[in-house]
Amino acid sequence: MALGKADSKKKETAEAAEAPAAETKAPAVETKAAEKPTAAAPTAPAAEQIQPEGKKAPAGRKTAAADKKPAAAKKKASGVKKTEPAVKKAGQTAPEQPVPAETKEAPAAEKTVPEEKPAAPAAKKAKPAAKKAAPAQAAQKEEAAAEKPAEEVKKEAAAEEPAQVQEAAVETGYSDQPRRSVAFIGSECHPFVKTGGLGDVMYALPRELARLNCDVRVILPRYACIPQEYQDKMVYRGEFYMDLGNTGRNYYVGIMEYIWDGVVYDFIDNQEFFTAGKPYTNLVDDIPKYCFLSKAALAALNYMDWIPDIIHCHDWQAGLVPVYLRTLFRDTPVGRARSVLTIHNLRFQGIYNIPTIRYWSGLPDEVFRMGALQQNWVDANMLKGGLAYADRITTVSGTYASEIQTAEYGENLEDHLRYHSGKLRGIVNGIDYGMWNPETDPALAVNYGLGSVLEHKMENKLALQKELGLEEDAGKFVIGLISRLTNQKGLDLVNAVIPQVMDGNTQIVVLGTGDKEYENAFRYYEDAYRGSFSACIQYDEARAHRIYAGSDSLLVPSRFEPCGLTQLNAMHYGTLPIVRETGGLKDTVEPYNEFTGDGNGFTFDRYDAELLLGAINRAKTLYFNNRYHWDEVVQRDMAKDVSWEKSARQYKDLYLELTRW
Ligand code: ADP
Ligand code: GLC
Repeated sequence: MALGKADSKKKETAEAAEAPAAETKAPAVETKAAEKPTAAAPTAPAAEQIQPEGKKAPAGRKTAAADKKPAAAKKKASGVKKTEPAVKKAGQTAPEQPVPAETKEAPAAEKTVPEEKPAAPAAKKAKPAAKKAAPAQAAQKEEAAAEKPAEEVKKEAAAEEPAQVQEAAVETGYSDQPRRSVAFIGSECHPFVKTGGLGDVMYALPRELARLNCDVRVILPRYACIPQEYQDKMVYRGEFYMDLGNTGRNYYVGIMEYIWDGVVYDFIDNQEFFTAGKPYTNLVDDIPKYCFLSKAALAALNYMDWIPDIIHCHDWQAGLVPVYLRTLFRDTPVGRARSVLTIHNLRFQGIYNIPTIRYWSGLPDEVFRMGALQQNWVDANMLKGGLAYADRITTVSGTYASEIQTAEYGENLEDHLRYHSGKLRGIVNGIDYGMWNPETDPALAVNYGLGSVLEHKMENKLALQKELGLEEDAGKFVIGLISRLTNQKGLDLVNAVIPQVMDGNTQIVVLGTGDKEYENAFRYYEDAYRGSFSACIQYDEARAHRIYAGSDSLLVPSRFEPCGLTQLNAMHYGTLPIVRETGGLKDTVEPYNEFTGDGNGFTFDRYDAELLLGAINRAKTLYFNNRYHWDEVVQRDMAKDVSWEKSARQYKDLYLELTRW
């Protein structure tokens, strides 16, 4: 039975003491289709087969290297527990600090003494901190053995970057704000690797937080697909070996560092996990990969003796971080950090059978219960576990924070989220004004600002039409669509209305990749409406900028949209959004009111093709019949504050709330 809001609030107060009743019922057994591996799923090993002899990887990963590991490395990686406190940095939690009230929210299992040793890395495994980028994985060999003690390595490397971070805060004049240190952990970050908005947020928010006197470190995988230009800038920071789950192996963890604009980026290096040409492949590989990332990130913080006040994790790929923090790492230095878990997209949760996740994570049995990782009788859910153990949960808009507590948007976690609603809040995303600025954007044919948009936007439209082989006519109404081509984005509605939209005065430009059915449908329309429809089935950052600048309007008719960044980019470029009133779209686009002239764009509520068509037609009517009012909205949108400033302050306040001293 679904809990009402009031009930859920009441229950929350008791949550430290007992497992939630609402959580103990078996949720629907169905797992997200999108999450299921397409390859044959590995057979779930029976519980009693997991640990002992053979230690075979149930998810079918290669284990050959394990046996090659020299005895010395095995010994060192077995978990040397550091007892000395981490070097205290400004604003860092003192161990003797009073325990903040939020501790009450910790699930019962937090009190359980972990059965396994904390994964503190071997203290003596590191190489000296080289000043030049180390050859990838060179250190994965046994000769990586200490040429210089790790303690020295740590001090050398650590001495450099905090000064730079501090400078950044001083320069921008916010150093009067209380200082806090934050480690971001996530799976993508522009400009190193980006598949969608998560990459934008992981880039922009840390930079804004640095301006608000935060000491920020972003921990990411060192994927092989990160462009060479950035690989070359990374500096070797150290390495150690770490055990992982029940694999019986010690895994190499290299730390490659890049310090840029007041933010420290630490890339976790391991060739076995991060060599694919793209970040996400299939769950069979992704589950072990992100178990490894979550554990290695915490071990790396211990290794570097950089213990942040806050660990801010993003999406399911870092979902196990709060769980590790309160179990295997609880008694290590990093265990005193508070955790925030941000949901960027609830559709993806990291669900797999319990034995596999148990095998790769090595998490104690207590976390595999209904109130935490257990999803149903068969599966474990990494995001669900993170939500249970995190000190705070955020998502990327207020409306989505409410929506995900309903069956329609809750992706089977609505009960769990309602149960934890006391620590859940929505903070809307912004965009980075350095990266998205039509006045300086190097990708555009002509730069423009608020004062020159009316003259120069046309020129960008003509340049875009030329670039894409469309009829060059500034009088046409150009509609852009920049999107991952997935079921989330409302593309079936778009497909349904295209023939009615193509009236001879309208052009459509699509930029995106994804599901074949959508890619092919858009290719079909390009063929059917030559000169008026362009289907760019590709990922092209610079072209995206030109579409934002050259279009009159941008379509975002999503089925659900946690925040959405494309409508924000569009408004900032004077391009009026046409959106469905859901999630962050609802929170950021005020509907145009034809009587008062107020608003930022055109909206519709129910997920219905006719309603989308109605919104497009209202946009066209204003554009063709009342350009004066259209232009007013263009200018209003460009002037609207969609920067990170306000939202970053809300995150900072949240961090302060968690670390009152
Ligand atoms: P999501 O994260 O769900 O994909 P968002 O709207 O939050 O959606 O973010 C999408 C981001 O990815 C935006 O910065 C957008 O410009 C960019 N983007 C999406 N598809 C493409 C593409 N094919 N080429 C270039 N950029 C793209
Ligand atoms: C997700 C969501 C999107 C959001 C982005 C960044 O990918 O789909 O709505 O803007 O994350 O938070």
